Amino acid sequence: MDTDNFPMRIFTALRFLLAILVALPSCFGSDALSGSSGSGASSGGHIGPGFDGITLASAISTSSVSLAWPMAVGATPAASSNVKYHIYSGATPEEARSNTSLIASTFPGVTSFVDSGLDGMEFSTIYYRVTAEDAEGSITDSSKIASARLPSKYIAGTSVYSPNVESLWLTQDSSGNSCITCHSSAVEPDFSSFSSFLNSASFVIPYDGEATWNEFVLDFVNNPIPHFGYWSVPARISDMKAPLSTWIAEGALEVGDDVPPIFQFDAIANAGKYFGETGPAFNEMTVHWFEASDPESLPLNGSTTGQLEYHIYVGASSDTIDWLNPINLQNEGTNPYYQELFSTGLDEMSYTFEWTDRRCVAVVRALDASGRSETFVDPLNPTMEELALRWRNMSTNEREIVISR
Ligand code: HEC
Repeated sequence: MDTDNFPMRIFTALRFLLAILVALPSCFGSDALSGSSGSGASSGGHIGPGFDGITLASAISTSSVSLAWPMAVGATPAASSNVKYHIYSGATPEEARSNTSLIASTFPGVTSFVDSGLDGMEFSTIYYRVTAEDAEGSITDSSKIASARLPSKYIAGTSVYSPNVESLWLTQDSSGNSCITCHSSAVEPDFSSFSSFLNSASFVIPYDGEATWNEFVLDFVNNPIPHFGYWSVPARISDMKAPLSTWIAEGALEVGDDVPPIFQFDAIANAGKYFGETGPAFNEMTVHWFEASDPESLPLNGSTTGQLEYHIYVGASSDTIDWLNPINLQNEGTNPYYQELFSTGLDEMSYTFEWTDRRCVAVVRALDASGRSETFVDPLNPTMEELALRWRNMSTNEREIVISR
């Protein structure tokens, strides 16, 4: 060993010690389990800033993800504002951990980023990692990963009142009368316009195509005398079933809803309603949420009951959330925890699931009715194509709920 190098060796040892000291606080932080590490790996002979890594990745549209992280703590005062951040992303957590997957760097002091232009990535999960670099070029690495799942491209429902439903009322009986000939403001239901129809047709039960159909047939046959002209050709009525019930299942809307539901986290009325807790039983956890907002898919009667369906996604950490298996839909029929979660109109909902690990990360997503009429050939083993169609219309602005016991 060359003695000339002795001061250098002390310097290296000190640097190593300091690096450990910088790393220690984050090891004891609440994120230790998710693999957070402010390792303080430095370059250029300086200690990197204290940095805890990415905290939020959230899809804000079908092709963009919003990212955020807490400001790094600089080694010297005011240094935080000089720290810039490097963003890495990949299709797997491993890919995001690789230094070759750099996608962007921020200006100093900027602690958020929107990864936009992710066209063609619908229905896939993207993993993100962020590192911090101070003004002297020292980089603090973080192995912490956050993930966001882009929903499939929104496709509005296929059924529109006119022409799909309104045209049914033009069906003629044997004397050449159509429904509209008799049913206007004088005889209910009034088939002359969308709003007069929905306001006068008591058989319409939004979202429930089957019940609506049964109710409709009952009302129709209970008035045999005026409808006598239809008796000779029953198909004139039975042919109405498919278009009418599809339209009802998609929400009984005048035009196709082309806006997915959204959680209004910033509304004061929703404050404190989106959270998770352990229990009630020792091996259970419970998530609470408020109803998402989707005015475009609100039926004319204004009732939000049954309007939206909710999926609860759960994982041990952000990067292990199983986006293909909402926990409330797993093992339909056999799992005692299986539950269909439709909006209640109450604005506060909750769901309890079995979870024996110490910690879990949950996300609630809302779906409107336009995808619900998609049926699975094998309900226990839906194909990716079926799932993509069924889940095409889900909320994108999710927030993670972290629960630990
Ligand atoms: C010849 C005139 C006439 C024609 C054509 C006609 N209806 Fe009617 N419909 C009536 C009358 C009258 C009633 C009874 C209304 C009442 O009791 O207030 C009625 C009752 C109904 C009811 C039950 C309403 C309720 O509130 O219980 C339904 C549903 C209905 N018609 C649907 C149709 C449909 C659909 C068509 C076209 C396929 C049609 N009607 C064609 C005259 C007609």
